[in-house]
Amino acid sequence: MKKLAPSILSADFSKLAEDVKLIEKGGADLIHVDVMDGHFVPNISYGATVMKSLLGKTRLPFDVHLMIEDPDKYIEDFITEKTEYVTVHEEACRHLHRTVCHIREHGIRAGVAVNPATPVSALEEILPEVDMVLLMSVDPGFGGQSFIGSVLKKAEKLDKIRKECGLDFELEMDGGINKDNLKSVLEVQTDIIVAGSSIFCTEDITGSAREFCAEIKEGNYAIR
Ligand code: DX5
Ligand code: ZN
Repeated sequence: MKKLAPSILSADFSKLAEDVKLIEKGGADLIHVDVMDGHFVPNISYGATVMKSLLGKTRLPFDVHLMIEDPDKYIEDFITEKTEYVTVHEEACRHLHRTVCHIREHGIRAGVAVNPATPVSALEEILPEVDMVLLMSVDPGFGGQSFIGSVLKKAEKLDKIRKECGLDFELEMDGGINKDNLKSVLEVQTDIIVAGSSIFCTEDITGSAREFCAEIKEGNYAIR
């Protein structure tokens, strides 16, 4: 089943728990947690304390996206009973295999993210070890940027590889996804859709999440 993971980067932090309730009501499956360190990406967002403040306020699991250098140092901070995925960037890991093993040792699903300019071939050796590949469809660092269409070809390549090699990693796409390009994202067999501004920067957050869910779950792309 395909999933919607709204990114709280675009939520109103003065009422974060309320905003999270609104996406929960709209049918979201995961909370996408964008962690930025001001080094790997040119912006600082928030850390584990903010994520953990939501424990007990929602039933939704966390989908943690670490846009940070040296992620091994911080993985433990993000392990909670609600953490379903921890994703690190291929470009930020010196020993990617070790980092993926580190995440999995905690019984958490391990994801590897790649920036728009990083080719699929950079993932070749790690694919059998990962639970999820996150394809960035913007250069990471900010919400509200425009979708970079060349990512669709990368998703097609990865879907082909997983079918040919009998692998079962999920595909997530993140950045610039809106109602106009959602269909093209679903057509390339994306399993997890991240959306920040197109859900939280709208008048009706629950309604926007509902509209995404209707297309993601009730569209013609539910079965891969
Ligand atoms: C970008 C983040 C994304 C982003 C999504 O660095 O990883 O999750 O905030 O927001 P939108 O959907 O507004 O691009
Ligand atoms: Zn993200």
